[in-house]
Amino acid sequence: MRNDIEEILIPTEELQAKVKALAAQLTEDYADKDPIFVGVLKGVVMFYSDIVRNFDAPCEMDFMWISSYAGGTTTTGQMNVLRDLTRDISGRHVVILEDIYDTGNSLDFTYKHLLAKGPASLRICTLLDKPARRRAGITLQPDYTGFVIPNRFVVGYGMDYEEHYRNLPYIGVLKPAVYEK
Ligand code: IMP
Ligand code: MG
Repeated sequence: MRNDIEEILIPTEELQAKVKALAAQLTEDYADKDPIFVGVLKGVVMFYSDIVRNFDAPCEMDFMWISSYAGGTTTTGQMNVLRDLTRDISGRHVVILEDIYDTGNSLDFTYKHLLAKGPASLRICTLLDKPARRRAGITLQPDYTGFVIPNRFVVGYGMDYEEHYRNLPYIGVLKPAVYEK
């Protein structure tokens, strides 16, 4: 598995330092708001668990599962809710946690879906932002961003290529040979 990685883009220590800084900022901003953190599965699992474990105030956890990917490295643009929230978020402060803001199709869809449920506030916290890939017409700006990265397909720390590599503890770029298999 590690032999398939061409380059480590963000090493574990850098990820952990950034996540702690983001969680500290969220703690400051949401200390008395009892926020609901909404994770969009599955890519966000590592980031999500590290954020909430470093969030030092009351909060709730919930998850959504949407389909956006047909597999491989390109989005289809088609969105479906495979699993919706279990909590009622109306009147609550909600923070969407995302692994990566790429074309923006997923976040745009998720944001509108959650906004329609009437939260008191709705913000976005994304670990990675790949602005070069943004689809025209998508104007959402994340309120919290970990790293802005170049236009490369990344894996690890929750993110996959064909469902693999999610368990790598860092964020890396695959060798081209892996795609050619
Ligand atoms: P978007 O809808 O194109 O913004 O991206 C939605 C989802 O695609 C993200 O939440 C990721 O799960 C996945 N994704 C986008 N770019 C990458 C990448 O570089 N590596 C792995 N997954 C990605
Ligand atoms: Mg994915």
